[in-house]
Amino acid sequence: MTSIPDITLNNGQTIPQFGFGVFQIEPKDTVAAVRTALEAGYRHIDTAEMYGNEAEVGEAIVRSGLDRGEVFVTSKLSNDAHEPDAARAAFDATLKALGFDYVNLFLIHWPLPTRYGGDFVSTWKTLEEFYREGRARSIGVSNFQPRHLRRLHDETEIIPAVNQIEISPYLTQDDVRAFCAEHQIAVEAWSPLGQGAVLGDPVVRFIAERTGKTPAQVVLRWHIQRGDIVFPKSVTPNRIRENIDIFDFELSAGDVEDITMLNKNERTGPDPDKFDGRKPS
Ligand SMILES: NC(=O)c1ccc[n+]([C@@H]2O[C@H](COP(=O)([O-])OP(=O)(O)OC[C@H]3O[C@@H](n4cnc5c(N)ncnc54)[C@H](OP(=O)(O)O)[C@@H]3O)[C@@H](O)[C@H]2O)c1
Repeated sequence: MTSIPDITLNNGQTIPQFGFGVFQIEPKDTVAAVRTALEAGYRHIDTAEMYGNEAEVGEAIVRSGLDRGEVFVTSKLSNDAHEPDAARAAFDATLKALGFDYVNLFLIHWPLPTRYGGDFVSTWKTLEEFYREGRARSIGVSNFQPRHLRRLHDETEIIPAVNQIEISPYLTQDDVRAFCAEHQIAVEAWSPLGQGAVLGDPVVRFIAERTGKTPAQVVLRWHIQRGDIVFPKSVTPNRIRENIDIFDFELSAGDVEDITMLNKNERTGPDPDKFDGRKPS
């Protein structure tokens, strides 16, 4: 297997372009899933306070025998903890649950423009504290639209290292991606498989048959060749191994274009402009 590329973030830190997501993995299944992923070669785990499995992610990393420095760990702030004191307590709790004294990346999970008086700016300034303390090696945001990013740009000091947004062949988000590219913000694609919805698409299946790869491998490879960071989720060991086996082939420029043309601006998750954060995502 060819090795997973690193992406250099705007603060000089590096992140493996490919990783493992643990949203909707039950705590009781998380240690086994993350250990399978680490054994298969994944070195980047994406969790969140709201997934309820940070402790199990930390435990799996420790039990794998890998050094902490070999695994890139991301977590995210709970939607219920945007006020600065609540954010400080929540970040302490995240580190305690993981059992680590730092995370590689810490994100504001949702902008929540309809809550907290729309004030994600003071939340961001609190994340800047974690970054300056070295307890978050990088900080970023998730589900931020260009207008939210512009506010951070105008009112705060540190540019987010990443923006983690929903992207799949049915939701290509090229406007947000272009804005992020212009401002040196790396893009992370959540639900990269559209939670499975894109895998039956005839165009994807046709390319899969021609390349001798599976639909999931074709879609993940499409994300990689577009330059985004991805971390598909699976609790199925064979799929965990299948999903990382995408570094031995390339899609043609035409294949990438054909998949991009499948866009229908179709979300599987909430709309960031309306979501008030009452339900985990
Ligand atoms: N920031 C945010 O707001 C946000 C929101 C959602 C997700 N995320 C992050 O993004 C990660 C990935 O997104 P996601 O979990 O929503 O969806 P996803 O990775 O697009 O899809 C996961 C689904 O696809 C199935 N699957 C995985 N590999 C497969 C394969 N090779 N063949 C067929 N089916 C396959 C899984 O089934 P099995 O598990 O049954 O194998 C699961 O049902 C999350 O885990 C989380 O870390 C972030």
